[in-house]
Amino acid sequence: MSRILLIVGGGIAAYKACELIRLARRAGHSVTCVLTEAGHHFVTPMTLAALSENHVYTTLWDLKDEAEMGHIQLSRQADLVVVAPATADLLARMAHGHADDLASTLLLATDKPVLAAPAMNVRMWLHPATLRNVETLRADGVTVLEPDEGAMACGEFGPGRLPEPEAILAAIESRLGAGRRLAGRHVLVTAGPTHEPIDPVRYIANRSSGKQGFAIAGALAALGARVTLVAGPVTLPTPAGVDRVDVETAREMAAAVEAALPADAAVMVAAVADWRVDTAAGQKVKKSEAAPALSLVENPDILATLARSAQRPRLVVGFAAETERVEEHAAAKRLRKGADWIVANDVSGPRGESVMGGDANTIHLVTETGTETWDRMPKGEVAHRLAERIADAL
Ligand code: C5P
Repeated sequence: MSRILLIVGGGIAAYKACELIRLARRAGHSVTCVLTEAGHHFVTPMTLAALSENHVYTTLWDLKDEAEMGHIQLSRQADLVVVAPATADLLARMAHGHADDLASTLLLATDKPVLAAPAMNVRMWLHPATLRNVETLRADGVTVLEPDEGAMACGEFGPGRLPEPEAILAAIESRLGAGRRLAGRHVLVTAGPTHEPIDPVRYIANRSSGKQGFAIAGALAALGARVTLVAGPVTLPTPAGVDRVDVETAREMAAAVEAALPADAAVMVAAVADWRVDTAAGQKVKKSEAAPALSLVENPDILATLARSAQRPRLVVGFAAETERVEEHAAAKRLRKGADWIVANDVSGPRGESVMGGDANTIHLVTETGTETWDRMPKGEVAHRLAERIADAL
């Protein structure tokens, strides 16, 4: 049995949300409803309360509701948040992070997976603004279902109809079911660059954006894993359901990784600085002084240390950015580091810059049994595929 928080938006398809509640309950789930102000024009709180046999939440400003169950708690006590129907306006407000009513505030505050079933006029669905919003939401990890195509209540024809309640329930089951594949597993992920101080205001860094590692952490959490994400200095939001530990230097990252053990798997995506300044200055080095000669010392290799430690996770995955003979170097790195898998990406040539910090990646997955190549695909897709492979291996 899972707990579904169902946000009912304001569209004629709201009546189908009533059927969805009935089907979801028959499948053994509990449903708690939130009705938007616009939703009130199509169904009543009484209908939803009777079908869900639960209190229906309608406003941020109800003192009694807020005292009994704060909105933050309400957003987190579910296993899945479902928005049906998701109107064009709701999708836009979700995509832009609004928090001006109960539904949008819950969607911003939740740490649970979110599934949205859109319903709107065909022109609204096909409008570039809506398409942009849907793309943004999908990049944020929201499952946005494709609407059905057909005759619409407004008399037009095309995509925009709310999927049938049975189809929405199947998507719910699949998202929840996916949630069980890595349930009970702890996966450690490192991501981002490290900053190695020269003095209190200057540091050595690299171009890693953290996007790929954050996407992997999110994909693992979406499969139900408990994920500890040790993140170097990046400005990315924490993916839903992920425990994040922020660090700055390689040595801090090494300590945070050790503190997070034991883990069933470790995915080391961070671009750890190979060297740090031997003795960083305690005070800002003045420009008037002679240009400092930086003496560098090697940082600990976090991946190699972990792969050979007594607390070695069952599956250790390393990353490699290579510019030539990618597969050969990655295979050698796998052995040298003691990793089970190396995920290698080719950062050579004109595309190099767009991999580091960009949104797409071409992958060579090097394992004990050989190498497979994944053609250029979005980092979110790489994350999803890798998470599935990790689930297969654990
Ligand atoms: O040796 P190289 O930096 O190419 O190895 C990359 C892999 O090793 C990545 O998985 C990276 O996270 C990890 N690594 C590490 N600690 C270091 C250097 C690299 O964990 N000091």
